[in-house]
Amino acid sequence: MADAVRLGMVGCGGIAQAHLNGYEALVNAGYDRVVITAVCDVSEENATATAARVEEIFGEVPQVFSTADEMVDAGAADAADICLPHAYHHTAGITCLEGGVHVMIEKPVGITVKATRRLMEAAEGTDLIIAGAEQIRRCIGARAIEWAINDQKMYGDPLFFTQEVFSHSPFDRSSYKFAWRSLKILGGGGQILDGGAHFADMVQHVFGPVDEVFCSMKTLDQTIIDLPDVEKQPADIEDYWTATLRWESGLTGHWSWSNYAAGDKLSTRMYYGTEGSFADRQEWQHPFQFGADLTLQDGTKVPYEQIEEQFMGTLSDEEKHQLFPYGITDGIAIECWDFIEAVADGRKPEIDAEEALQAKSLCFALYESAHANEPVKVADVRDGNISAYQDPINEYWDI
Ligand SMILES: NC(=O)c1ccc[n+]([C@@H]2O[C@H](COP(=O)([O-])OP(=O)(O)OC[C@H]3O[C@@H](n4cnc5c(N)ncnc54)[C@H](O)[C@@H]3O)[C@@H](O)[C@H]2O)c1
Repeated sequence: MADAVRLGMVGCGGIAQAHLNGYEALVNAGYDRVVITAVCDVSEENATATAARVEEIFGEVPQVFSTADEMVDAGAADAADICLPHAYHHTAGITCLEGGVHVMIEKPVGITVKATRRLMEAAEGTDLIIAGAEQIRRCIGARAIEWAINDQKMYGDPLFFTQEVFSHSPFDRSSYKFAWRSLKILGGGGQILDGGAHFADMVQHVFGPVDEVFCSMKTLDQTIIDLPDVEKQPADIEDYWTATLRWESGLTGHWSWSNYAAGDKLSTRMYYGTEGSFADRQEWQHPFQFGADLTLQDGTKVPYEQIEEQFMGTLSDEEKHQLFPYGITDGIAIECWDFIEAVADGRKPEIDAEEALQAKSLCFALYESAHANEPVKVADVRDGNISAYQDPINEYWDI
């Protein structure tokens, strides 16, 4: 492993463990271009537990730090996999980039559009990579359905879609991972920017950039959040929203969600084209992660398994390796592999900061629209012309 990329895990909470599973799957498949040499977490417990897992996977004990600053000062890594609460993505990311360390950052790359731009500025004029950690579009189901829609036009031309998921399943806001997710200043928003970041990425990956949105939202659960980092205050993020998305092509989409809806559940995830419809199999905010079943106007049913088989049959061995290295079809392992390959070969990652920003600008546009109570153009939000919702977050963190 002499030439392996030395990687630092920055943040050792929930998703970092899933990333570790990804690196483990790669190592078990014989991949030897990465070794985790550092782990950082302000929680000593999480850092040491993660260091022990890293030792099991790589057979080497990583250096343990509290923060990215300490890791960069020690020169302990060439690249960092950043899995922190959203408010710290840009601070840790900029520290890494200024110290010459490549970064892959969990979604959203920055807590606001401006924070994302600050990160991009830190990499400007260098050969440093900012990769967006976005796994859903890399899953086999998502890759197969994107092919079915765009290459094969299996349901004709896209017309409209609706994803509405309502349940009563409030988060346990007393646990750290849901507490920071309950405040705008730490999370940037609620599920629109969290699980919804995947939805925003996927619908634009498949259908292209959204032109305009109109959104309404509510904060129903206002539990008091008590965290060491910030003043004690009630939860202020959306736990209900409904939005209309419009593309220049005429495609329209309806996207609604709540985990605070009393009574019956609702779960509808349907995509309609000129010749048929796709019923998405997933029930979260991860379009096509588990594929989708096609029904044509003449009644023909095409189960997802058949679509996947057809898709895989069109790929050469080289294409298969690029899309599913070592036959791995899990999106997180693939994103980890793509980041390391990009660093090792000096190439662009599959999702760079610009593309990640476009995806998340749709999320920010929903917040800006609800805040202004009027439709907004996603490009205006992405370009920083509309930011009233995000301004207090930028001011708080001096972004
Ligand atoms: N891709 C996905 O499907 C997915 C799923 C879950 C989370 N995420 C993303 O991963 C990121 C982390 O989420 P999570 O669920 O792992 O959160 P978490 O709360 O489980 O873990 C965050 C970790 O960061 C540590 N931490 C907090 N501030 C720190 C700092 N300044 N320096 C060092 N360590 C610090 C905490 O102690 C904790 O261990 C978020 O961006 C989230 O949106 C992505």
